[in-house]
Amino acid sequence: MIKINENYLKLQASYLFTTISRKVEAYAKDNPDKKIIRLGIGDVTLPLSKSVVEAFHRGVDEMSRAETFKGYGPEQGYAFLREAIAAHDFQARGAQIGAHEIFVSDGSKGDTGNFQELFAQDLKIGIPDPVYPVYVDTNVMAGRTGVSAEGRYEGLTYLEGNSGNGFVPAPPAFPLDLVYLCFPNNPTGAVATKAQLKAWVDWARQHKALILFDAAYAAFIRDPQIPVSIYEIEGARECAVEFRSFSKTAGFTGTRCGFTVIPDTLQIWDQEGQGHRLMDLWNRRHSTKTNGVSYPVQMAAAAVYTPEGQKEVKELTDYYMANAKLIREKMSSLGFEVTGGENGPYVWVKAGTDSWATFDQILEKAQVVVTPGSGFGTCGQGYIRISAFNHREKVIEALGRLETALQ
Ligand code: MLT
Repeated sequence: MIKINENYLKLQASYLFTTISRKVEAYAKDNPDKKIIRLGIGDVTLPLSKSVVEAFHRGVDEMSRAETFKGYGPEQGYAFLREAIAAHDFQARGAQIGAHEIFVSDGSKGDTGNFQELFAQDLKIGIPDPVYPVYVDTNVMAGRTGVSAEGRYEGLTYLEGNSGNGFVPAPPAFPLDLVYLCFPNNPTGAVATKAQLKAWVDWARQHKALILFDAAYAAFIRDPQIPVSIYEIEGARECAVEFRSFSKTAGFTGTRCGFTVIPDTLQIWDQEGQGHRLMDLWNRRHSTKTNGVSYPVQMAAAAVYTPEGQKEVKELTDYYMANAKLIREKMSSLGFEVTGGENGPYVWVKAGTDSWATFDQILEKAQVVVTPGSGFGTCGQGYIRISAFNHREKVIEALGRLETALQ
């Protein structure tokens, strides 16, 4: 008899977006004549851009010729990609990050989920609420929590986001070991100012805490005053890991590529109080558990950093941000309280009192799929998240339908 990892039994029956797609499939089956518009999961709809596709093709062509064929690549990623990332995403913004501190992967969902493996079981973990469910669920799977009671797991410290703090929780007045932060935020679309991030960095340094900073939506920031990387904040090299993704930046949700930044200055400690470089531990894990990302995909990702590629991906993100503006304006004009949509591709809307009931009502009356806010935590109850990732005409049609359905 094979015994189960009991921690899995503490989880909700299915992952949030799996539950939503089951509900939508059931609705579609019962209503085959209805045209459903999906503004639920943040999945891109525009194709890969020209330079990215050309580089992807070049990579495949190289794999087809004996002289340029490549077998296993470096697990951390090819130097050409790591160097381009360090130069463009960090050094160009005054953030001192070197290519050796970049670890290329198949996306930041896996990296944000797997990173907790490097840490002891008895850490004090701070998790924002509402939050991208991967951070919570992976710590539950690893056995760092008790059971869930009324939507909250015992053993986790929840950092509440609400309209009072603009969905940017401040550092607590007590120490924690590990804190997950995500800006621009998924699900609320909120962004943290330099002063707000500085407060987190100062707090982390004071308490020797580590911040796991998810910046998957960094490319959507439009306000030049908002920091794009946590390493723009002084002291962050001593206390923060950053996760980035090409998924939303360059339309790679189906192509898969992202990276994690671990400064060589970051240490964690063993029971004897001996320090270990965090990057060495991640490298140990990474080289044991993965052979990295395929060469053509890394070629495609590197093309994002060419002048042409930069222009193209700006156009892609501008397109979604124009959708976000339409969503934000329409929902505000209908009298709803809205957050996000200005520097992030999600609009967070206060609608009704029960998020799943509002989700059902919108699906049935408007045939529009949104994401129920309570799926991101108890503080999300009474909210819905509307994603800007879809074609313009579908977004416009969905907003017209929402206007009718919600009045
Ligand atoms: C979301 O809709 O929250 C995202 O698409 C999830 C993800 O990136 O994994």
